[in-house]
Order: sequence, then structure tokens, then C-alpha cells
Amino acid sequence: MCGIFGYIGTKQNAPTIVLEGLKRLEYRGYDSWGIAAVPQQKTSHKTEIIVKKQTGKIGNATIDDMPPSSFAFGHTRWATHGGITEQNAHPHLDCSNTISVIHNGIIENYETLKRDLIKKGHIFASETDTEVAAHLIEEYIKTMPFDKAVRKAFNMFEGFNAIIAISSIEQKFVAVRNGSPLVIGVGNNEHVLASDASAILPHTSEVHFLQDGEMAVIQDEKMSLYEAKTGKHIDPTIQRLSWSISQAEKGTYPHYMIKEIHEQPEILATIAEHSVSDVKKLAAIIASSYGGYMIGCGSAAYACLAGTYLFSKIAKRHMNWAIGSEFSYQQDFLTKKSLVIALSQSGETMDTLEAVKQAKAKGALIVALVNVMGSTLYREADHAILLSAGPEKGVASTKAFTAKLAHLILLATALADDPDRGTALVKKAALAVNSLLKKRSLERIEAIAEGIEKKEHIYVIGRGLSYPASLETALKIKEVSYIHAEGLPAGELKHGPLALVEQGTPCIAFLPNDETYSANLAGAMEMKARGGHIIGVSYKKHELFDTYIHVDDAEEATIIPQVVVGQILGYHLAVIRGFDPDMPRNLAKSVTVK
Ligand code: F6R
Repeated sequence: MCGIFGYIGTKQNAPTIVLEGLKRLEYRGYDSWGIAAVPQQKTSHKTEIIVKKQTGKIGNATIDDMPPSSFAFGHTRWATHGGITEQNAHPHLDCSNTISVIHNGIIENYETLKRDLIKKGHIFASETDTEVAAHLIEEYIKTMPFDKAVRKAFNMFEGFNAIIAISSIEQKFVAVRNGSPLVIGVGNNEHVLASDASAILPHTSEVHFLQDGEMAVIQDEKMSLYEAKTGKHIDPTIQRLSWSISQAEKGTYPHYMIKEIHEQPEILATIAEHSVSDVKKLAAIIASSYGGYMIGCGSAAYACLAGTYLFSKIAKRHMNWAIGSEFSYQQDFLTKKSLVIALSQSGETMDTLEAVKQAKAKGALIVALVNVMGSTLYREADHAILLSAGPEKGVASTKAFTAKLAHLILLATALADDPDRGTALVKKAALAVNSLLKKRSLERIEAIAEGIEKKEHIYVIGRGLSYPASLETALKIKEVSYIHAEGLPAGELKHGPLALVEQGTPCIAFLPNDETYSANLAGAMEMKARGGHIIGVSYKKHELFDTYIHVDDAEEATIIPQVVVGQILGYHLAVIRGFDPDMPRNLAKSVTVK
């Protein structure tokens, strides 16, 4: 959730490098930020760390007032413990201003530790759990070197955390994690460190993904790795990032969300061409399993639900699904023969990771469909397939969601021993999305958004595969435009939701060229009869529709262009209503807390 960026090397403008790094992490969502730098010139016998912090967004803030430095780090904070204030923003300092700490996660036992530290005379400047780390390290360095003190402090903490601490006296940078992601970029005589690999790209593509329980110590352009528990030395595993810088930037688009929406035809076509052999291997694993669960959160959970329809319809195979945070209440019957397929863009969603952990404890085989190489889920899974959607920066998932669907279509057809059909379906979906992204179609959807932007409620209905498309469309609309939107199975309308329909209530109805068409049309008619304003999303017009969005038929892959309609509509509703679709209020891109 919080963003972390650090630089240690030979360049003298580390604070600026860090500010630029934090800007690349803004998409994760934050409410305050700060940078700490170790000044080049010693100001006294001990060099005090200079810290600059602010609430709100970075915007046009400058850091001209910070000293030249080749050693700095920064943080974008998403408040958990303590309100959104300058004091609570990271980095935090110890009493001597020679140790500074930034942190992602929650130190669950911080209150007890803080009480002890106060008794020992430490003075706290903030209400955060993080500040405890700075003072505890300060306490421990009385008797040991800085890196050992950080390790000892970290091992005292309960909860899932990533901590980075710097010492201006020993000129060391120590990073240690247990739960929250950290990536270390290894450049030419320099190291960069970030909570997200895409932020490192302008500096280097060579990275080590810090694993749970690992500690990195960086000093004099050299990195050493240790086990955090024992202090035993370990070797780094350097990997090369396959993403390019331009993939991680907005380019000429006004927002990441619309850029990522536009990237989808190419991503889908690439998946259709290149993912088949990986998918075939996975299909063989699924075929030999006894009972399976698909798990994910938010959009990823809706992809799981879509997967159950695809496996049933195409592969004639039963697959359960569960929302990550609900899985622990449903996993009693898992055995060593069970299979769990976890879906995640980030690979860091705590609720999904917890579910995976529980399934692993029961001996289940774990398969992951994940977008971020080196992420925790990618590493934890017995078999992982990369979604190949490229870096996704808009908080609302778009291209990663359709990449998940594309892989599920390929999987279901491979299971049905008809992989060529999967390739053809995903290619058809790519073409259908391409048509939706043509100027005329985009203008049409924008005009529809203008017509409904003042509405308080929007209902989205579908059946079969169009039901998860309805849920995902409603999620896209609500999270970026803040209009209440609800996705419903059309057959459920008369069991309650019809009571909400008034004159002019917008109802988006998905009517694909499949067995659900007539039944869903009946749902739309029920809405219309009670005053609903019907926005038909279909391969053909119908007189019932008040407005119509054309979506090419892509057979079972029609769900892909259907959700793209929801993405475009959500995007325009947000922009027309004056909101930033890339940074919806109260939300963060990567949800690394429970
Ligand atoms: C919605 C959205 C979220 C994520 C969810 C899981 O647009 O982006 O609902 O889908 O937080 O995230 P990942 O896929 O990273 O596990």
C-alpha cells in the first residue's frame, strides 16, 4: 500500500532521485509523503539526517532545500496507525537524528514496545507504530553494530512488515521484510530500492526480490544479504525485469487507466499467441487434481467466478471459487489432493496470500495466475503463470483483469483438448476490444456517461458469463466515479432489487449472442416496465434499449469486450464528475494488509 523508494550510490542528487521514485509510486495511493537524506558534508561530529515531510500529494513540491546527498530514501504513506499529519508521515527519526526508518505494514505489538522505550527515556514525535522501530534500533546500537540492531529490532516485531533503516554514522542502508514487498535494483555502483519493481526501471532492470525473512545491508556500493532470523549470509538471486520504462509510464494519455484500457487488444493478442504452452502444462495439473478452488479478491474474485462458468461450459469441469478473505471459512475439506488456483495482479494481496498459506498448510497444490514476476504469490506457488499484462498502475484493475480472463479461456479450452479454439476465442476478443476503442464507439460511451453522470444508482444485469461481467462493470463504475453501482444476476431482479427501480434508473443490460439472451432480455423488460432506462450492451440492437452499445460477438470470450465497456464507462464517469480515476479516494493499488 505505502510506497517506498531509496537510493544509495555515487550520484549526488539522491533526494531528487527519491522524489522522482516516489512520483512513480503515487499510483499506489497515499495521503502524505516524506524524504530523508544523509548530507554529504558533515555538519558536526555526527551527521544529522535531514527530513522533509508533507501531508497531501507531492504535486509540484520541490526539495531544493535538501542538501546534496548520495544516500536518501522516501515514503508515501497510507495512514493506518495515527492520523494524516506531517508528524505521522515517514521517515521517522530516533532521538539523535542519526537513524531514520520507513516502513510498510503494521507492527502489531508496537504499544508494548513503545511503553518500554518511553520508560527508557525515548521521546516520540508521532503516533505511529513505525517510530518504535527507530527508537528500538537506537536502543540496540548501544551494544552492537547498526545492521545487527536492525535485525534484532525486526525480530521483535509481530505482524507483516518491511522496514528500511539508515544510519548516518555507519553510512548503512538496511532493508528487511516479512510480508510486504521490497525489490532491490542493482545498478552501476548504485542500488535502488522500492516497494514496486516498476519504479526501479529508469535505473536498472537487474533486481533482487527480497524474500520474506531476508535482510539486505547496503554500504559503499556493495550489497550483502542475510537471513533475518539467524544472520546467516545468503546469496542474492538477480533477475532481469522484462518490463520496459514506457510500459510503466502514462505517455500521451491523460491517465494510466485509459492508457491501460487501450493496451488491451495488443496484450490479448500476445497472450493468444504466446501463452498456450504454459497453459497446456497447467491444464494437465488441473486435469489430475481432485477438487479445486479459485481464489482472489475484488476484480480477481470476479475473474475466478467467470472461471467457474468457463470451466463448466467449455471443459465440463466443476471448480469452486472463493473470495480470498472468506476462504478460511470454506477450506475444511481441502486435502493433499486439492488444487488452489490463486489469481492476482500484484501477487501481494494479503487476503489472497493468507488463503494460499492456509491451503498450503493443508497440503494443497498451489497454482498462481499473477502479473508481477518475483511477487510473493509468484514465489509461493508451486506453479505460476505470468499474466503478461505489463505494469498496471491505475488503481482500478483493467488490463490485468482481461488478461486473467484470457488465460482462463485458454485453460478451459486446453482442458477440453481444444487449445486452438482458445487461441481463436482470445483473438476474437482482442478484435472486439479493438472495435470498442475506435473513436466513434468511445464517443458513444462518453455520451452515455454524460447522460447518467448525475444518477445516484446504476444497475448492471447479466446471466451466465455476463453475470461476472456485471459485477466487474459495477465495481469499475463505483470505485472510480463514486456512483453506487450494483451488478446483479438478471434472474434475481424479481427477488428483491426491482424495488429499487424508479423512473430513469440506469440499467446496463448485457445481452450476448448465447443461451442467456432471451432470459436477460426478460430482466431488462422487468426493469423497463418499472421506469428503468435501459443501456443495452449487445451484438445487435433491440427496440427495448433506450441507448445501445455495440459489442462484437466473441462467443465465450464476449465477457472480455463486455467488461471493457464497463471500464470505459467507469473512466468517463469519473472524469466527467471531476475525479482522478487513477487514484480513487480511500483505495490503494496493492492491498498488503488484512
Ligand atoms: C478493482 C481492483 C481490486 C483488485 C484487488 C485484488 O479494480 O483493482 O479489486 O482486483 O485488490 O488485487 P490483486 O489482483 O493485485 O490481488
